[in-house]
Amino acid sequence: MYNEKVLKVFANPHNVGVIENADGEGVVGNPTCGDIMKITLKIENDVIVDAKFQTFGCTAAIATSSTATDMVIGKTVDEALKITNAQVVEELEGLPPQKLHCSVLAEEAIRKAIEDYRQKQGKQA
Ligand code: FES
Repeated sequence: MYNEKVLKVFANPHNVGVIENADGEGVVGNPTCGDIMKITLKIENDVIVDAKFQTFGCTAAIATSSTATDMVIGKTVDEALKITNAQVVEELEGLPPQKLHCSVLAEEAIRKAIEDYRQKQGKQA
């Protein structure tokens, strides 16, 4: 049911793991299936220099996490906040309709990690 690109990314995902002492951390659960994703970010001067993910989820969740983390590395936090799950799905050349809900996890986890970063910044200021 998945296209070749999705299967290729799933078989060799990028950015798997957890960044120690991350500047931002976001954990989200998918209400549709109960799967969980954690994204950690390393941020310098508002630029995301590294992003890693851990996903207890399906093929689509893993492929979208890999692609979304690839997409945010090198971007400012403001640019990263503008990335939507639809753009991630487009980058993967599509997902089966019943798997679109899985792609929301990465977008939400990135948003949460950036919120966490901003909160930490606020506390330091
Ligand atoms: Fe749970 Fe895809 S089925 S994230």
